[in-house]
Amino acid sequence: MDKKTFTDKLRNSYTFKGDSILIGSAILGDDYESGCQVRLPLKTFNRHGLIAGATGTGKTKSLQVIMESLSDAGVPVLAMDIKGDLSGLGAAGEMNPIVEKRMKMIGMEWNPKSYPLEFLSISDEPGVRLRATISEYGPVLLSKILGLNESQEGVISMIFKYCDDRKLPLLDLKDLKSVLNYAGNEGKEEFKKEYGFLSSSSAGTILRNIISLEQQGAASIFGEPSFDVFDLMKKNKDGQGMINILRLTDMQSKPDLFSTFMLCLLAEIFQSLPELGDPAKPELVIFLDEAHLIFRNASKVLLDQFEMTIKLIRSKGVGIFFITQSPADIPAAILGQLGTKVQHALRAFTAKDRKDIKSASENYPLSDFYQIDELITQLGIGEAFVTGLDEKGRPTELVNTLMRPPFSRMDVLSTLEINKFIQHSDLIREYNVEMDRESAFEMLQRKLDAPSRTSEEDRRTKDQTTSKNEEESTFEQVLKSPITNMIAREVTRGLLGVLGLRSGRTRSRSRSIF
Ligand SMILES: Nc1ncnc2c1ncn2[C@@H]1O[C@H](COP(=O)(O)OP(=O)(O)O)[C@@H](O)[C@H]1O
Ligand SMILES: [Mg+2]
Repeated sequence: MDKKTFTDKLRNSYTFKGDSILIGSAILGDDYESGCQVRLPLKTFNRHGLIAGATGTGKTKSLQVIMESLSDAGVPVLAMDIKGDLSGLGAAGEMNPIVEKRMKMIGMEWNPKSYPLEFLSISDEPGVRLRATISEYGPVLLSKILGLNESQEGVISMIFKYCDDRKLPLLDLKDLKSVLNYAGNEGKEEFKKEYGFLSSSSAGTILRNIISLEQQGAASIFGEPSFDVFDLMKKNKDGQGMINILRLTDMQSKPDLFSTFMLCLLAEIFQSLPELGDPAKPELVIFLDEAHLIFRNASKVLLDQFEMTIKLIRSKGVGIFFITQSPADIPAAILGQLGTKVQHALRAFTAKDRKDIKSASENYPLSDFYQIDELITQLGIGEAFVTGLDEKGRPTELVNTLMRPPFSRMDVLSTLEINKFIQHSDLIREYNVEMDRESAFEMLQRKLDAPSRTSEEDRRTKDQTTSKNEEESTFEQVLKSPITNMIAREVTRGLLGVLGLRSGRTRSRSRSIF
């Protein structure tokens, strides 16, 4: 197709009725000044997306540009910052000759500015602490986080049931450890009578896993106060969507924890938001950098769960973007659900690379103008093949795009600058407080200190609590029926099946998981 006809086709494809964001302009062969703008409609951002390309090709900058534009459009975003390279959004960018030239080629005004940031953290790094109580996580996710096998998962289910029956709040790891200790020692007989045999080796293994998790600094994701996911969906006083940056710099070495954590977060967001159908703009867009880490070791069950959550979360107005080197890092079932694609250059060093490139090219709409599989290895830095969805949900024309430079700083913030954001954060004041209300740890401690209390009394307490819960769903009744190790396993499997679709056992009673 000749250039003139293709330009008309592009103009047609990239003109929208509703609001859209400008991400760059079309490169047509040697022509870097086509004047043909590339836009993505706001309403399609809940249809998910991909930003892919080899290292150094411009993925993070494209991510930055999209986050800026969404924030300006009043859409809050959440980014998983694995490499710690997104903080620059908090400071205005600086003009340099490269930026100047690029802006001129795109035909766009340079508008340097900083964006409203909120830093979040699940470790000791500074930021709003995202945490939830042990009972809000529930037995299944907790077992995944602890890396337990099925029979150990059964033990955790028993522990949860024991604490439910006896109204012992499971808030933090200290609580969990003390109940496990009790069940494996002083409470052994009591436990065995009602819940089945708990081998001390299982209890020991679980305790060891808890301690190793504590040593990795994960204790801080358990406890109160629980994070409310609606706090991710705020705007500043100028109407810009907040840019939430979750610093996960130590997650590279903990892919299991990362994928489980992501799934918990998505499930919680899914459960909290109302059904919106087809909103004019998204409620929240989530960006997952280093997305291959999520899928690398994930079990089939976890993958299925992920796939389903992604499919369903759309109608809640939540979009998810995956950032990774090659589209081949993303499972096909998920790749097929992604509406917007920004494909930076791929490098062909090995036979496998060439195969990946071929299948990556097949992943894009056919083009009458570009030789995709050839050009994909030749794209310059900050250039990408882009295709989105139009307002009717049809793929837009694949276009080689000169991405606009970010308006915010391309480099990171200094520690001093980050501290300034932290000092001014209302959320930090709200969430970064130490609460340690009376829970299983203290209650068991008291029980052990007062040995006169008989197991008969315990049973009476238990009967009372059971009768209070008559209006439970069948689902909860199943969970409360006498469980053996084997049944516990079945139940926990079932729970994973409903995660993200409906409340789990413990979460139905509590406000939030984070
Ligand atoms: N849209 C852009 N505008 C201007 N410079 C860019 C753009 N994209 C990339 N660059 C340049 O390329 C460098 C590498 O980009 P980066 O996004 O960090 O790559 P990646 O995340 O793929 O490793 C940046 O530091 C910047 O100098
Ligand atoms: Mg990067």
